Amino acid sequence: MRAPKPPHVGIIGAGNIGAELYRKVLNLGWEVTFVAKSDGIYKNLTNKIDRLENYLNYASGLDVTFLAIPTLDDGTAAYEYLLSFLKLDIPVVTCEKGSLSSHFAELEPYRHRIGYSATVGGGTRLLRYMEGHVGPWTQEIHGVINGTLNYLLSEVAAGKPMGAAIADVQRLGYAEPGVNGVLEIINQEAKEDVVMKTAILFNLSNFERERRLKASDMKVREITDAEVDLLIREAGKRRFIVSITRGAPQRDDTIGGFRHQVGEWNIRGGFQALESNPLFSQLVLPGIVNGVIVYEGGENTYRATGPGAGAVPTTSAMVKDALRLLASASPAHAQRS
Ligand SMILES: NC(=O)c1ccc[n+]([C@@H]2O[C@H](COP(=O)([O-])OP(=O)(O)OC[C@H]3O[C@@H](n4cnc5c(N)ncnc54)[C@H](OP(=O)(O)O)[C@@H]3O)[C@@H](O)[C@H]2O)c1
Repeated sequence: MRAPKPPHVGIIGAGNIGAELYRKVLNLGWEVTFVAKSDGIYKNLTNKIDRLENYLNYASGLDVTFLAIPTLDDGTAAYEYLLSFLKLDIPVVTCEKGSLSSHFAELEPYRHRIGYSATVGGGTRLLRYMEGHVGPWTQEIHGVINGTLNYLLSEVAAGKPMGAAIADVQRLGYAEPGVNGVLEIINQEAKEDVVMKTAILFNLSNFERERRLKASDMKVREITDAEVDLLIREAGKRRFIVSITRGAPQRDDTIGGFRHQVGEWNIRGGFQALESNPLFSQLVLPGIVNGVIVYEGGENTYRATGPGAGAVPTTSAMVKDALRLLASASPAHAQRS
């Protein structure tokens, strides 16, 4: 019997994630048809062969495309890449958050052809876990979905000065380049990363199919210097948690973050007090870690946790997504096998 031909893939974006993906898929024996960077098309990580606008000339015979570009706009650039491949019936695996958080409704018809595990939770695959557990009976979902904010509070709670914890996240590459200082880093993570992930989390829960949430719907209240001092004092008693709960908003003393209502669902994110919900004790996780809880009432709580970011876990999640999409038989791959 002939061995199946290896999958043919394209990789858009060749930074931390794209370069690691490139190495990973070559190690699996897959064929990389092209790599796209901001200045053109490459045949590998270094040899440029064409102008970027010609990328679709390389789509023929692709089994899957990986998308790993930054969200420089509201995700529209990434959305356009996604749509162009999906319309050709080529599945796309993405770790970029803006496209799904701003254009979920437009991408919905192609949901089964998109691998999105790495957009929230890095290598945790907590979106797929959550999708497997939510239903009409779900009462609450709570998530630690920003590894950087979790790291800051958990390190300070363990006795590290905030300045040293901030230096760690910058040295380890967990803060956006060019963003400096406690206030700027915390506010930036909340305003960009967290709201995009919250929109994806909520939309994938399918609670309100007619009313999709966009990142821009959530107005984040920036924290102040005085609130940073309070956070440092209360680091052991708080975590940045996103909560999706039924019913009207309750009064609470969350520091920073946002509140939003979609239908009967209240969506809240911020440095929440651990004592404000008995489930929160299960989300006290050390380090750059993510976690999600799906609560059905009574004793029925489901929880997944895992590494929140980093190229290795993120690309592992992306390759797993690709394997799942390939197994659901893309016509091109099925023909070549
Ligand atoms: N790093 C993580 O741990 C992590 C985890 C989960 C998700 N993500 C997400 O993964 C994505 C990539 O992150 P990264 O850390 O790999 O970023 P990065 O190191 O900045 O690399 C981005 C790559 O995308 C290319 N690029 C930018 N705009 C492009 C465009 N319009 N067309 C084609 N290529 C373009 C860049 O080209 P040049 O080389 O020419 O600049 C670069 O190769 C982001 O959306 C991020 O949020 C990252």
